[in-house]
Amino acid sequence: MCGIIGFSGETDCVPVLLGGLDTLSYRGYDSAGIAVAGVSGVHTVKAKGKLDALKEKLKTHPVSGSTGIGHTRWATHGAPSDENSHPHTSGTLTLVHNGIIENYAAIAEKLRALGYTFVSETDTEAAAHLIDSYYRENGDPAAAIYRAAQEMHGSYALGVLFHDRPNTLYAIRKGSPLIVAQTDSASLIASDIPAILPYTRSYVRLPEGILAVLDGAEISFSDENGSEVALKTETVDWDVEAAQRGGYAHFMLKEIHEEPEVLRATVAPYLKDGLPHFDVPGFDGGALAGVERIHIVACGTAMHAGLLARQWIEAEARVPVTVEIASEFRGREPILGEKDLVLFISQSGETADTLEALRLVKARGVRTAAIVNVVGSTVAREADDVIYTRAGPEIAVASTKAYIVQCATLRLLTICLALARGRMTEEDARRQCRILLEDVPESIAKTIALAAEIETIASRLKTKPHIFYIGRGADSVLGTEASLKLKEITYLHAEAYAAGELKHGTISLVEDGTPVIAILTEESLAEKTVSAIREVKSRGAFVIAAVSEGIAENREIPSDLLLTVPTAGREAWIAALPTMTAMQMIAYCTAAQMGLDVDRPRNLAKSVTVE
Ligand code: AGP
Repeated sequence: MCGIIGFSGETDCVPVLLGGLDTLSYRGYDSAGIAVAGVSGVHTVKAKGKLDALKEKLKTHPVSGSTGIGHTRWATHGAPSDENSHPHTSGTLTLVHNGIIENYAAIAEKLRALGYTFVSETDTEAAAHLIDSYYRENGDPAAAIYRAAQEMHGSYALGVLFHDRPNTLYAIRKGSPLIVAQTDSASLIASDIPAILPYTRSYVRLPEGILAVLDGAEISFSDENGSEVALKTETVDWDVEAAQRGGYAHFMLKEIHEEPEVLRATVAPYLKDGLPHFDVPGFDGGALAGVERIHIVACGTAMHAGLLARQWIEAEARVPVTVEIASEFRGREPILGEKDLVLFISQSGETADTLEALRLVKARGVRTAAIVNVVGSTVAREADDVIYTRAGPEIAVASTKAYIVQCATLRLLTICLALARGRMTEEDARRQCRILLEDVPESIAKTIALAAEIETIASRLKTKPHIFYIGRGADSVLGTEASLKLKEITYLHAEAYAAGELKHGTISLVEDGTPVIAILTEESLAEKTVSAIREVKSRGAFVIAAVSEGIAENREIPSDLLLTVPTAGREAWIAALPTMTAMQMIAYCTAAQMGLDVDRPRNLAKSVTVE
């Protein structure tokens, strides 16, 4: 997510802007910039890379003034570059933006027809030109901003500096967060609380559609009709780091709570007329119809998303899928047909094993595609086709929201493949897309709310040296990711095992009190998983069953603890993601109860850029 800071006061704003951007850097970014209203007008300095690059540039391009805006960019439209960095300028104004303007292409087309030229690939520049076009018409900053706001679809938090009003800052938002704060001599806007803590602990959360006008220590709030609006001031007693976590105890918990929002943010832009549409050459209907086999290549959690996708794609589209551990894939001579799709999945887009596997496939002249969370990352740049997820920066080493949006994107790909091969009607495709966009995020939110029951489960795990996850079909695959989550942040040994395979040897490890977490999302396989539960219970296991709503209605689940996981339908694919959220929460609560460093577990890095 991008970070915004703005200041209007009596002192030089540059230190405030840079300090605010530094505090907001935890949100993840790939470029930064500031714009300052000085004696000779508004000057912008911006640079690709970390804040140090911006500070270096400021040494040779110094700016100063008492009003200004700053921005750290997390690229969504256009790779990281100086030109795509914010702030963006258009004629009469300079602005910064956080969010995604979904209809920016149509707005840009209209503006080009009006004679505007674009120097960046960003949706933000379209917003700047749009406001400029209206400001030139009416000379009224509020009216210009509101007219543009009516036209922009999607999400935005905007900080706007009109060049002919150098002491005044305008701010408005829809979707993306923005707060406004005040001291005795100045006023500020910021994307998040940490940025204002050095100056004040009081702030106002700017409501959607309300315009904030900051002029020195004076702030006014008004609505679209120009009517003054009174807003409640809030006070925070967090320290900076707690504020960066949004008040959550750990980033991992914050990121699990973000799952409903980022799932919607990922899926919505890929739907046209209710059907999935990636707008990427290798993923259009024609290309997908001809795919004879899919090879999914990834590491860790990303690879586990691929395992789930294999269940879905083979069932719905009847396309053979192999899922490969990237480091192993490189270690053998894979057989790749010219009509094969090789799909790389990577949150960071910088994982060395995945990247080297990509390069191996490209060297074979086979088309490559990638599902990546970080715009402009190496995997994204080197793959022939790339589909971006929109989880935003994932700070915790243990991947949670990134996995959820990877799976959601893979579900859309499943539907595309099934449609392209005539194995799914458009009606059913629309139904599934609606469920994915609306119902699954809701089920995830309801699952997160089961925190008390999950804390009880965690209390039964935290003292045990060995934990098993069992399931059949997709449930076995979910167990694989669940066990990784538990292992990597609790350091407890956990193993996922196909429920039907336990009796062929591994069940010998089950003894009195061994926790076994049984996952049941598949109605058709439930009876067999119940049999496996009975098998392990007869050997003394302590069984925790994670059962999708409805499955336990007409059958006895002989578990010691039963967690009913909310789901919007009886189809297993609908229950998969809320179930994984429950597994993530179990891992999180166990590690938290153990007092471990949940966000930075020992021995691990967020992006494994070494082979
Ligand atoms: C996930 O919890 C792990 N931290 C790790 O397995 C990770 O998924 C793996 O290293 C792949 O990372 P990537 O998605 O950035 O390529």
